[in-house]
Amino acid sequence: MSISQIARTISESATLKLNETAAILRAKGDPVIHLGGGEPKSKAPIEALVAAAGLLNSGEVRYTPADGIPALKQAIIRYTEQFYDRKVAPENVLASGGAKQALMVALQAILNPQEECIFPAPYWVSYPEMVKLCGAVPVPVLPEDGSFHPRIEDIERVITSYTKAIIINSPANPTGVMYSEQFIADIVELCEKRDLYLIMDDIYHRLIFDGRRPINCWQFVKDKTENSKLIIINGVSKQYAMTGFRIGWAVASRRLIEVMTNIQGHQTSGPSVLLQRAAAAALDGTQASVESLRTTLENNRNVLVDRLRAFEGVRVTVPDGTFYLFADFGYYDKDSTRLAHFLLEKVQVVTVPGVEFGLDGHLRISFCGSIKDITEGVERMKWALDPNSPNELYIGQRKLVRDWS
Ligand SMILES: Cc1ncc(COP(=O)(O)O)c(C=O)c1O
Repeated sequence: MSISQIARTISESATLKLNETAAILRAKGDPVIHLGGGEPKSKAPIEALVAAAGLLNSGEVRYTPADGIPALKQAIIRYTEQFYDRKVAPENVLASGGAKQALMVALQAILNPQEECIFPAPYWVSYPEMVKLCGAVPVPVLPEDGSFHPRIEDIERVITSYTKAIIINSPANPTGVMYSEQFIADIVELCEKRDLYLIMDDIYHRLIFDGRRPINCWQFVKDKTENSKLIIINGVSKQYAMTGFRIGWAVASRRLIEVMTNIQGHQTSGPSVLLQRAAAAALDGTQASVESLRTTLENNRNVLVDRLRAFEGVRVTVPDGTFYLFADFGYYDKDSTRLAHFLLEKVQVVTVPGVEFGLDGHLRISFCGSIKDITEGVERMKWALDPNSPNELYIGQRKLVRDWS
C-alpha cells in the first residue's frame, strides 16, 4: 500500500494504545491496575452535564462557527483575564476539539517543512509526532544536569536559523515538574529576543501542589500587542475532568487565530455544540470541582511518593503538579519498554515506558486513580521486581507464583 512519507514517520500514540490494552485485559476478567492513564476519575462538573443535556433535549444540535460559539469564547476570555490578567477579544480565541487539536492547528499555522520546533525532554508523547505531521523537525532538549528542569542555556544552544517555535508544558507531562517563574520569564524573553513563537501548553497549570500558584506567562511579555508570538493552550480535559468532552482552546494574536480558524474550518469545523456548551458551563461554574480534584491529586501524589520511597532501587522526583510521576527504574531495567511489558504480563500493572517520552530507564506512573489502585499497584510492582519478595502473591483469589529471578 502506498502511504505518504509523513504518515510513515508517525507512530501510534503509546498512551492511547495502553488504554486499549488495559480495557481488553479487563474485559477478559484480568485484575488489571491501570497506572498508565491520563484522565481524572472524578465526574464532570454538574453544570456541564446540565448544559449539554438541556441542549440535547431541545434537538437544536447544529454546526457552530469554526472558531467556537460566542458563549464558550466569552468563558475563555474571562478565564484568560482571571489567570493571565490579559484582556482579549473573541478574535484572539479559538475553541478546538481538545487542547490536542488547538496545538496541532497552531503548529500547522506556523511551521513550514524543515523548520524546527524545540521542546524540553522528557516530553508529552504527541509533541514530536505533531511537529512531524507538519513536515517540520522536532528538537527535544534533555537537561544536561540529569534533572527534569530545563535550563535556558540548554534551549538557547539548540536554536538555529531553522527554529520557529518552542513548546513549554509546565507543570509537565510526564514528570509533574513545574518550571520556576524565573525560567518562564527567561523563556518568554528569549522567544521575544529571537523572534520565535512560544507555545505555552498550560493544560495542567491549576493542578499544582504544596501551595504553589499558577504562573502567568503573559506578565513577562514585553510586546503586549497583536505582534506577540505567545500562544496559550488550555482545555477542560484535565482540570475539569472532562477528557471525553474534547474541548480545548488557543489564545493568540488575531492574525494567528484567523489562520488557525481557516485551517480548523476545513479540517473539522467547530467542535460539537453540545460539548462547547458543556465546557462553557464548566468554565462559568462554581469551580468547586477543580479544587476538589486538586486536593485529591495532591493526596494521591503523597501516597504514591511514600510508597515509592520505600521501594529500594527506584529514584523518585516528587511531582509539583499534574497526575504523573516519572520514576527512574534503571536499577531494575534500563529498557523501559521491556520493563513495562514485564510488569503488565507478570502482575497486570499498566505503566508507560519512559522511552515514549524521550527518556529510557523510567516509567510514568499516574496517580489519577484510586488510592487502592496506587498502593496495590506499587505493591505488585515491588513484588515482581524485588528478588527478596516472598514467592507468592495473592491478587483476590488468584495466586501468583514467581517463576523468574
Ligand atoms: C501536555 C498535554 N497537552 C495536551 C494534552 C491534550 O489534552 P486534550 O484532552 O485537551 O486534547 C494532553 C493530554 O494528555 C497533555 O498531557
